[in-house]
Amino acid sequence: MKIMAFVGSPRKGSNVDCLIDKVIEGAGSRGNIALEKVYLYEADIKSCTGCLACTALKGSQECPLKDDMQGILNRMTQADGFIFGTPNHVHSMSAGLVNFFCRMQPLIKMDIIRDASGTIIGVNASTAVSGKRAIVVVSQGDFSYTQSALIFRALDSNIRDFQLKKIAEIFSAGNLERSAVKEKPADLDAAFAAGVKLAGF
Ligand SMILES: Cc1cc2nc3c(=O)[nH]c(=O)nc-3n(C[C@H](O)[C@H](O)[C@H](O)COP(=O)(O)O)c2cc1C
Repeated sequence: MKIMAFVGSPRKGSNVDCLIDKVIEGAGSRGNIALEKVYLYEADIKSCTGCLACTALKGSQECPLKDDMQGILNRMTQADGFIFGTPNHVHSMSAGLVNFFCRMQPLIKMDIIRDASGTIIGVNASTAVSGKRAIVVVSQGDFSYTQSALIFRALDSNIRDFQLKKIAEIFSAGNLERSAVKEKPADLDAAFAAGVKLAGF
């Protein structure tokens, strides 16, 4: 199976990255996986300009930004599962992951339904990644879950928009220091178990 992991932390090798590695380890424990890990702060992923060219409203044109995204989106259509990881940055998912979801919009195809007068009365949406499995990973500094409640809501909404199937969410708290999660065996075990699930077991 092919898994693509998206590390939405600017701190390579830190908490989010460690948890994602555990998910990958879990998935790999049940058979061969082909893995592509994308560091969202290292890849050439330009900021969405909000031009809406990729939307049905503007004729679903190609994104005018030329960078790593075209290849990433193509490979996403070939993958079986995704891992989206983010630190809590000011009660929100990281700017890198927000931008990534914006740049994923070309995967969504919408048929706009209009009435006889041309007024939009609905949309039929389909996506190029429909039904693929997804795991979300969130690490935060504080100990209270409420700090990340909005992040989980936003992640769930995006997973729904892309018609992905969320099979697990990993939440780890109290990780202000770099790689603090390495001292949290329960969180690492939960990430490993999620990986096993991602592999279909
Ligand atoms: C700019 C910034 C804002 C942050 N805001 C919050 C916050 O609102 N709540 C929280 O619990 N932790 C917050 N944190 C702490 C991170 O969520 C925490 O250190 C996380 O484990 C970082 O993951 P990483 O090591 O993979 O980057 C913030 C960290 C940074 C750098």
